[in-house]
Amino acid sequence: MSEQTRASFGGKLSAILVAAGSAIGLGSIWRFPYMAGENGGAAFLLVYLICVFVVGIPVMLAEFAVGRKTQKNAVGGFRELSRPWRWLGYNGVLCAMLISGYYYIVAGWSLEYLFSSFGPLYRSGESFSAQWEAFQLSPRQAIYTVVFVLLTHLIIARGVEKGIEKASKVMMPALFVILIIMAIRVAFMPGAAEGYRFFLKPNFSEAFSAETIFMAIGQAFFSLSVGMGCMVTYASYFKPNNNLTSTSMSVSLLTLLVATLAGLVIFPAVFSAGLEPTEGASLIFITLPEIFKDMPLASLWSAVFFLLIVLAALTSTISFHEVLTAYFAEEFKFSRKGATNLTSFLSVAFCLIALWCTFDIDFAGIKAENVSFFNIFDYATANVLMPLGGLFTCIFAVWWMKPDFLRGEITNYGELKGRAYPLLRIALRYVTPLLIIYIFLKNLGVF
Ligand code: PFF
Repeated sequence: MSEQTRASFGGKLSAILVAAGSAIGLGSIWRFPYMAGENGGAAFLLVYLICVFVVGIPVMLAEFAVGRKTQKNAVGGFRELSRPWRWLGYNGVLCAMLISGYYYIVAGWSLEYLFSSFGPLYRSGESFSAQWEAFQLSPRQAIYTVVFVLLTHLIIARGVEKGIEKASKVMMPALFVILIIMAIRVAFMPGAAEGYRFFLKPNFSEAFSAETIFMAIGQAFFSLSVGMGCMVTYASYFKPNNNLTSTSMSVSLLTLLVATLAGLVIFPAVFSAGLEPTEGASLIFITLPEIFKDMPLASLWSAVFFLLIVLAALTSTISFHEVLTAYFAEEFKFSRKGATNLTSFLSVAFCLIALWCTFDIDFAGIKAENVSFFNIFDYATANVLMPLGGLFTCIFAVWWMKPDFLRGEITNYGELKGRAYPLLRIALRYVTPLLIIYIFLKNLGVF
């Protein structure tokens, strides 16, 4: 797209809503509760919170600066500022591809639960775990995955302003309202107090273990959609008078709020139903029906909630689809339609690999059988590629670029006071990169 015709998001609120739409999704509603469940509950929440402020917000601001300054996709943006750094953009494109390879599957699970809310879910009399296991073996998984890619495709094909903006404006507020209603509802379930204790009362010795910090940093990157050029791509559609600092603060706080609300819904229900918080990826799909089953109009409540999860997922799938679509369209001069088609095709292919292929590892002392690509795609992106992308984005923004670059973007070239700038610079220069390096080395067992 040429400079003159390149689209942009409407106003300031739109910028916040679309970026929050990308950030808030399955990462906060599905991934956060199960990660917290597996990594000490409140300990995880505490470290995640710190990571959002110390790592997530600074990296998001650096990405916003690159995107808005260059008005380009992830690869084009970094390349315009400095040709050797274009590989940071490629890292983003690779992440978007790998995330597509499993995110649509989980989004498809939500679709299944949306529809079966009115079907067998509450009628069959089978336990929710048994129903989950049966679903894992059914071909419906693949079908719903493809349906979800098609849904995303349709929205992207309608273009930036019409599709993404409109969708986000309606979905986000609805999601908040229903989460709050659910959080109030579970408070009255017997045994809920145990869940609050698990989620809100941290055990400090556990909180600062290398493993918990490693998983929490990964969750911060994933849930804020940073470290992979997504926010570069979105900020390329921002207006010159957008306040980047307040946009990133609002997006991050909204994401934190949704994740915390999700925890406040899930954990009391988990303990009340006598389930284990360490259930893993199936946690919300087994727990949520437990909340609904005794409510009046169970099917309706359940359907509305899964609908909102579907919608939250949709505003996120749109965003990584857009990273790939903008890349193909701008870098290879594909028509927008061609780029959208190619992205959707590749997404389906990656998802089918993740669903159907497993492999064994017997390498350098590591032995594992039946490893699924689903887990590899998740781990490789959230725990490796996104933190590395974030680390180098910090180095790029404050060590490589001249100070005028970041200061200019943060202050809108003198229009804003940019009071947060000195703090941001210290974070990006020292605190954020050192924390990421430290935790990587610690997990590799270097010290
Ligand atoms: N932040 C999204 C979520 O939490 O569901 C996931 C995501 C979207 C990651 C877009 C990366 C991305 F580019």
